[in-house]
Amino acid sequence: MTAHLKMDDPDSRNRLDHMAQGSVGAPLDRPEGPLKVSGRATYANENHPEGTLHGVLVRATASAGTVGEVARDAVLAMPGVRAVLTDARLLRNPAQGTADEAPVQGPDTVAYFGQPIALVVADTFEQARHGAQNLQVKIDAGQAHTDPEDAQTPVEMPDAKQTSQGDLDAAMAQAAFSVDKIYRTPVHSSAPMEPHASVAQWDGDQLTLRGSYQMLNYNINELADSVGIDPAQVRVLAPYVGGGFGSKLGIAPEAVAAALAARELGAPVSIALTRQQVFEATMRRSETRQRIRLAADDTGRLTGIGHEALVSNLPDESFSEPVTQATPFLYRGENRVIGHKIARVNRTCAGSVRAPGESVGVTALETAMDELAHATGIDPVELRKRNVPEQDPTKDIPFSSHTLTQALDEGASRFGWDKRNATPGATRDGEWLIGMGMASAVRVNMMQPANSRVTLTPEGRAVVETDMTDIGTGTYAILTQIASEMLGLPMDRVETRLGDTDFPRGSGSGGSWGAASNGTSVFLACEALRAQIAERIDTDEESLTLTDGAAISGNVRRELSEILAGDTLSAEGHSEPGEAEKKVRQATYGSYFAEVGVNAVTGETRVRRMLGVFAAGRILNPKTARSQCLGGMTFGIGMALTEELMHDARDGHIVNRDFAEYHLPVNADVPQIDVVLLEERDSWANPLQAKGIGELGICGAAAAITNAIFNATGVRVRDYPATLDKILTDLP
Ligand code: MOS
Repeated sequence: MTAHLKMDDPDSRNRLDHMAQGSVGAPLDRPEGPLKVSGRATYANENHPEGTLHGVLVRATASAGTVGEVARDAVLAMPGVRAVLTDARLLRNPAQGTADEAPVQGPDTVAYFGQPIALVVADTFEQARHGAQNLQVKIDAGQAHTDPEDAQTPVEMPDAKQTSQGDLDAAMAQAAFSVDKIYRTPVHSSAPMEPHASVAQWDGDQLTLRGSYQMLNYNINELADSVGIDPAQVRVLAPYVGGGFGSKLGIAPEAVAAALAARELGAPVSIALTRQQVFEATMRRSETRQRIRLAADDTGRLTGIGHEALVSNLPDESFSEPVTQATPFLYRGENRVIGHKIARVNRTCAGSVRAPGESVGVTALETAMDELAHATGIDPVELRKRNVPEQDPTKDIPFSSHTLTQALDEGASRFGWDKRNATPGATRDGEWLIGMGMASAVRVNMMQPANSRVTLTPEGRAVVETDMTDIGTGTYAILTQIASEMLGLPMDRVETRLGDTDFPRGSGSGGSWGAASNGTSVFLACEALRAQIAERIDTDEESLTLTDGAAISGNVRRELSEILAGDTLSAEGHSEPGEAEKKVRQATYGSYFAEVGVNAVTGETRVRRMLGVFAAGRILNPKTARSQCLGGMTFGIGMALTEELMHDARDGHIVNRDFAEYHLPVNADVPQIDVVLLEERDSWANPLQAKGIGELGICGAAAAITNAIFNATGVRVRDYPATLDKILTDLP
């Protein structure tokens, strides 16, 4: 049987508050943790069936052009080399998330430097690599546009992405205080620890692909489409994924290449991207140029907001960094302009990276708010509180719940914000200039369709099955907790199986929607199982108490195994978004507080301490939720101070293609970070009353740090990251 739910109306039953097991909301360990730390959890490229061949991709050495002659023969003569493939499908961009957004480049077109253009397959990885290094490919170079801000670069301004209300120009002219500045963020790379890898194997016309992916529900269609077969002929397996951060939402070039090569050669083929290839040939986050205008009256209340962004992507790609996603509703203001331009550049395909939109958009907006606070002389926390809207100021619909004010107050008091000296450059500790900064956090809340199956065995054990993934986020833990709670089973009597497209289609991991979306489908399946159990003991589902493997009804307690009497019960849950999305504005909120020291001699910034306060509806597992927030704020430190993927201005190649040169924060860069999770239930979100938390911790975090730099030094950095060269020259 299948239980369906379309989320049209709020669910205020608070069911998870009335269950007896106590699993949901507890800081439980990850059930798969021991497998991971002992090396027994096998990742994509650790599966090499008998006879596996190895492929290495060959990359384009120009940013635009046409693939010409390929000197195959010389490489085919090399030891162990089995094939040199230049199938046109190798040249296509990695798919962007859905099968209907098919890759668009022509068959022989090179669109960016580092694009895969050929594949060498050999008996061993070393032989394939040697062959790939020696393959001569002629590229007839074409006209490339590699700089999004160059006057020659084509720019589109899609009508659907421009909105305005009121008269912002008038509001700016009449404002008691205003800000009108340009902010820039650089290209970012997802940079997951595990490089992308796929092992493809054919059995007749059935393809099995072991990969490292986030969204198997889409990936199966993308792969079938790319290879030209029916999705029913494809099975994708990704039980363990070593981080994705957006780069594994859609299939990457190695998946298609492995599938095609394995079919051609009649043997399993493994392809792992090198670290350099991960940087070059999987999605990047677009750089952004953002003009922000704020108009305020003499009490600091906003009367107008303008947010106009320039981002980039390859020609014809439909994705563009949704920089202004939270601008319509974060703050009050009757006059509003939102603008969006897309420069068509020959740079690696742009896609979702670590909270697309708010990551960089809220960071710029929150820097501008700090500038407004300084201009008005109003405390930055107070300024934000004065501008919290009563309802969505753009759509005139209510908020499903709203916790920004609470997060600001809680953060300010815990951090000791009252000790901040509002005068920039006034606090010194030896050669360090000390400052405090803060920013709001906001991220839209999304729901995706999800399916799960839950099976109760005669012994009273439960198995949860869905093709949902766990990309390091804690999915195994959370889905196990939900089933454990709903069925009254201790955690070790529930097994969650993920990452296999033979299971019901999950929501996939992306956009922070995984736990809440997929969790809802598990919840529904469990409700259906509870109804079956209730029927067997002649009670109704709502008055049934299940705990520690037993059912309690009235004053009678019976073991589940006895009630099941040798039967296996199974149910599927299907959940999908509905009208709730239109009736209310759903988002998650929080606040960041940071203290930095800026070296008065070198201009180097060290984050001394950082606090984040977040609310995301019911927190299903405070331990995994806290980890997500710690990770988000660590990204924030990277965005503020170090992360920047650089393209060579001459030929568009990515210069810093590894972890030595692409500066992610390391342990020494990250101080004590405190995370506080607020108690909240959002009935509009789903029956769990939980919202996404995965990306909330990054959405504005960098601004708290650069605002603290301003407070420490009086230097305003509007061009991220705030490297020391941008600070040093203006130090007091
Ligand atoms: Mo995310 S950047 O939607 O994986």
